[in-house]
Amino acid sequence: MDKIAISSAKGGVGKTTTTYLLAKKFTYDGYKVGIFDADIYGPNIFNMFKVDINDVKKSDGSNIFEPVVVENIQISSVELVLRNNEPAIWRGPMLSKVLIGLYNKVNWTDVDVLLFDMPPGTGDAYITVFNDLKVEKSILVCGDDSLSIEDTKKTVLFLNKYKISILGVIENMSENFSFGEDIINSKSLSANLNDIPVIGTVPRLTKKEIYNNCLNSNKIYAYLPNFN
Ligand SMILES: Nc1ncnc2c1ncn2[C@@H]1O[C@H](COP(=O)(O)OP(=O)(O)O)[C@@H](O)[C@H]1O
Ligand SMILES: [Mg+2]
Repeated sequence: MDKIAISSAKGGVGKTTTTYLLAKKFTYDGYKVGIFDADIYGPNIFNMFKVDINDVKKSDGSNIFEPVVVENIQISSVELVLRNNEPAIWRGPMLSKVLIGLYNKVNWTDVDVLLFDMPPGTGDAYITVFNDLKVEKSILVCGDDSLSIEDTKKTVLFLNKYKISILGVIENMSENFSFGEDIINSKSLSANLNDIPVIGTVPRLTKKEIYNNCLNSNKIYAYLPNFN
């Protein structure tokens, strides 16, 4: 099973949206896909796939969580441990224990590619995912402003420190990709990030396209064309 974290130190750049699109893309490509929502602060994946947490069976005591299956994608989320919408107020060791505990209980069935929807930051959740859950690959998501690029550089430094293979960066909401005074194109974004290749460019989409499942496979292929 290939485990790939969708990462960015920055919140709101589109990690969850990109995870969702990538899951669809990998499914179209014929892979069996799973998503582990590791966003301890704002788990959104169930919401994204319109899964009502109240319909998700609690663990039956056998210590096993069956993933929820939507569009052939197997999904589990830290939200299962945060039922009742309580915000996570765990300190590092507790946070780590919760992520590892849940991950080890999920009964993935023949998953080829497991995508980790990451929280913002470079802290405890990242250390847990890369150290304890043995995720060795990551895809970066970068927004269309210099702040986002600066934060992405921090993510790159973190991933390099942990010797994580960075598969590439996805430009998200890229209608006006700018860095300082310069308009950024894929090449200069890449140059700003130690030549990490740009493997996808997702434009600013309408809410209908994102949330009403109106993106057909052709569009998704156009946005995420070069990933292999
Ligand atoms: N390509 C896009 N076009 C338009 N809106 C987007 C796009 N990507 C993300 N968004 C919106 O930006 C907000 C943050 O996206 P999200 O995927 O939750 O980011 P993150 O997981 O990095 O916090 C959401 O409201 C989402 O709908
Ligand atoms: Mg998110």
